[in-house]
Amino acid sequence: MSYLVIARKYRPLFFRDVIGQEHITKTLSNAIITKHIAQGYLFTGTRGVGKTTSARIFAKALNCEKGLNPEPCNECSNCISITNGQNVDVFEIDGASNRGINEIRELRSTIKFKPMISRYKIYIIDEVHMITTEGFNALLKTLEEPPDHAIFIFATTDLHKVPETIISRCQLYQFRKLNLDEITFSLKGILQKENIKYEDEAVLEIAKLADGSLRDSQSLLDQALSFSSEKLTLEAVREVFGITPMQLLYDLTYHLFECQKLEAFEIMRKIINAGYDLNQFIKDYIQFLRDLLIQKNIKSQNANFINSIESNKLTELSQKISSNKIILIIEELLKLLQELKTTTFTTTLVEISIFKLFRIIEMIDIEELSNYLKKLNLALSGGNIQNKLTAVIQPDAAVHSEIEAEPKKNIDRLDKINNIEKPIINETAKKIEDTEKSNKSKTSVSEKKEEKNDELKEIAKTPSVKMVLELFGGELVGVKKTK
Ligand SMILES: Nc1ncnc2c1ncn2[C@@H]1O[C@H](COP(=O)(O)OP(=O)(O)OP(=O)(O)O)[C@@H](O)[C@H]1O
Ligand SMILES: [Mg+2]
Ligand SMILES: [Zn+2]
Repeated sequence: MSYLVIARKYRPLFFRDVIGQEHITKTLSNAIITKHIAQGYLFTGTRGVGKTTSARIFAKALNCEKGLNPEPCNECSNCISITNGQNVDVFEIDGASNRGINEIRELRSTIKFKPMISRYKIYIIDEVHMITTEGFNALLKTLEEPPDHAIFIFATTDLHKVPETIISRCQLYQFRKLNLDEITFSLKGILQKENIKYEDEAVLEIAKLADGSLRDSQSLLDQALSFSSEKLTLEAVREVFGITPMQLLYDLTYHLFECQKLEAFEIMRKIINAGYDLNQFIKDYIQFLRDLLIQKNIKSQNANFINSIESNKLTELSQKISSNKIILIIEELLKLLQELKTTTFTTTLVEISIFKLFRIIEMIDIEELSNYLKKLNLALSGGNIQNKLTAVIQPDAAVHSEIEAEPKKNIDRLDKINNIEKPIINETAKKIEDTEKSNKSKTSVSEKKEEKNDELKEIAKTPSVKMVLELFGGELVGVKKTK
């Protein structure tokens, strides 16, 4: 690839090529067609999402020699000189280096003269929030009564630093961050034009790192390609940007979720010994767990979670603990990230945090408890707990405290209940329903009470209830209707 950084080589020349900002580019095009052109525009949004690009396209469309059209021609001398930043009537001013009152005064003294060759005199002021208070005051006067031929396009990443008086005199356009699909789509387009082969996962990894900024994604791509220009591979991308290999993150999570402390520490040691930047590693791990949480809860096939580990393996992993616990772990890691900034004991701090993560795993939380109760109810009611009758068991106190002390055993129990076959559960359900019916037909209280014990004994003998009683101890105390 001849050396022209991607961001500059691929700056869109037409509104239609600006990605993800249709709400803005359409409005600007329409303003030109209907000749409803304001004199002050304010473009805001994070870095590298198309503000300067759109300002230039707008300036070209306004001053194109082929007339006022929704898109500039990009062929006439006006369009070409605007693209090159050499047009005599379009001024690109950097607010960061022209922030004082003198610069604004100079602008005010020249703005009144008619444009030299075009329809409008256009002032594109980037980083407008950097202008000083005095500068803003001077600018305000011009903005209140600009000459008809003058148009201001301000751009800023920090809207809250722009005075309200300026904002209220402009049309405000909020540029949005781009999503992963938009970024990967755009990067793949560039790679295809450059005839460079790529792995989808590599492109996705870069898109994730760019955090919504298309320019950042392009700079990252530049960087990755200078490392491996033959083919863009995931491995190369992860290596260039020092990202922890996915397999290590997966293995660590597996052992953590399985409460296998020794194995988890082995992996941590591997990560530390391999010389990974621990900060970067924690960030990668947070990202991994966040993706896992999404996989667990949204279960969409194209959750942004395509990578070197098979999706079903990840789903399986995500089922091992509750969402609640995953969130707690992420919170703990975010705290760790903060603490790492102020300590020199990074390794120790990371190790202590891993211990804290194990404590989270060992807790029993509401979500798991309720899952557990649901499964238990299923076994006791006949497969469908909606409006069904369920056998009520008073569990054994000893078993209860054992479950609290060692949640893992509980999971083994649930697995057994999960494996009870459907006909066996149905048998219980039928027995319970028969009991309830015969109870209704009885009249006297004593008669009811007398037979109740016998019936409960019968229900307790059905295989699925029997199994629950064996696993959890306690006794069958009644039958109730579940809502
Ligand atoms: N929405 C977009 N569609 C297509 N390309 C884009 C878009 N946003 C950014 N780019 C690419 O990123 C480069 C930089 O974009 P641009 O200068 O417009 O960003 P910006 O919003 O002005 O950023 P900054 O706040 O840092 O000035 C462009 O040259 C282009 O290649
Ligand atoms: Mg810009
Ligand atoms: Zn033109």
